[in-house]
Amino acid sequence: MEVRTYDGTAEELSRFVISVWRDAYVGKMAFPLWTPEYLAWQLDLAAPEAREHLLGAWCEGELAGVLLGWSFPYRQGEQRHPAILSSWLSVRPEFRGRGVVKALKIEQDSRMRARGDGLIFAYRYFGSEHSLSKGPTREQLDSGGWESRRSGFWVRILSTVRASRWYLNRWQRRLTIVGAPFTRSPRAARDRDGIRPWEPRDVGASVSVLEARRRLASSIAWDEKSLSKHCSGFGRCLVAEVDGVVRGLVTWHVLQFVGATEEPVAIFDIIATEGLPDATQRALLDAALHEIKSQGAVLALKLRTGDVRALAMIRTGFIPWFSDSFETVHSVSGTLSPMLDHPHHVLWR
Ligand SMILES: CC(C)(COP(=O)(O)OP(=O)(O)OC[C@H]1O[C@@H](n2cnc3c(N)ncnc32)[C@H](O)[C@@H]1OP(=O)(O)O)[C@@H](O)C(=O)NCCC(=O)NCCS
Repeated sequence: MEVRTYDGTAEELSRFVISVWRDAYVGKMAFPLWTPEYLAWQLDLAAPEAREHLLGAWCEGELAGVLLGWSFPYRQGEQRHPAILSSWLSVRPEFRGRGVVKALKIEQDSRMRARGDGLIFAYRYFGSEHSLSKGPTREQLDSGGWESRRSGFWVRILSTVRASRWYLNRWQRRLTIVGAPFTRSPRAARDRDGIRPWEPRDVGASVSVLEARRRLASSIAWDEKSLSKHCSGFGRCLVAEVDGVVRGLVTWHVLQFVGATEEPVAIFDIIATEGLPDATQRALLDAALHEIKSQGAVLALKLRTGDVRALAMIRTGFIPWFSDSFETVHSVSGTLSPMLDHPHHVLWR
């Protein structure tokens, strides 16, 4: 087996990952369809240096599996660490049980180690009996270099009938119907709220908003380059101005998800509204939900990491769903100051 940097196109990568996930989960467990446009946006595929953490394992010349990482600096208190968000782990069925995952992880660790004291963030889903993912082992957790926490989503239903048909789990179907009378339609932005789509000229003010989020013990350290990429292309962003200055922003993207049916689902990434007056906080989230609904999404998700005020979410119709994944972080230097139990901001992928 040979593990090296993945050198295929976004189309080939999308086809490979989707075919592995379809084969494993159709009709059993929901999963997103990561299109070439999405992967090119999220993983910055056009930039050769961004491929450092895109790994493929080849057996007898055939691509057997991939493990992909998105690179970012992570701020913990006054410290900064190089970090990656590791996801999209996919091994073709005919190559399973042959150590492909292990070989990919060894190479991922070694590439992070070469960058210094690196952190690797990941998710392991346990919300379905069909999930082939496994949680971190006791040995890893006792090693001092790992931390793991159960985490779940805020869920906002946008189309009751389509969302209830989409869910594979009958309790989620039923709860969606039962909750329908309490789910109002989100309101569009009004001129007086100072809400508008993000523009490239907003990048400096937007970075300042994110740097001022003192409620977060740790966070992705966004800069102008990474935030510009995140807010444009496949990503959507709305900002809210107070006295002509950007004081809050929300970002999201919409992907098709395969469940019992195939429907668009929105993933919120950044909800930074705490610098806004109360009514504008609500209006900004509502305006984003209104746009998401017009993009056709049946529901919107936000990972619960303590980075948003619960009241602000509940007031706009989000409900906290059960924890169904392990959020993990692993330090390749073997020493980690715990962070996941404090409010923090990462992306869910
Ligand atoms: C999950 C999957 C990659 C496992 O492939 P596999 O070759 O069967 O892997 P194995 O069962 O041999 O497990 C190998 C090791 O990987 C570990 N592992 C399994 N899932 C993992 C995950 N999501 N992250 C990290 N390690 C994982 C196992 O704990 C095991 O460690 P061990 O050898 O120390 O016991 C494969 O089943 C797959 O592609 N499934 C569909 C996509 C998917 O579910 N991806 C994971 C999403 S989180």
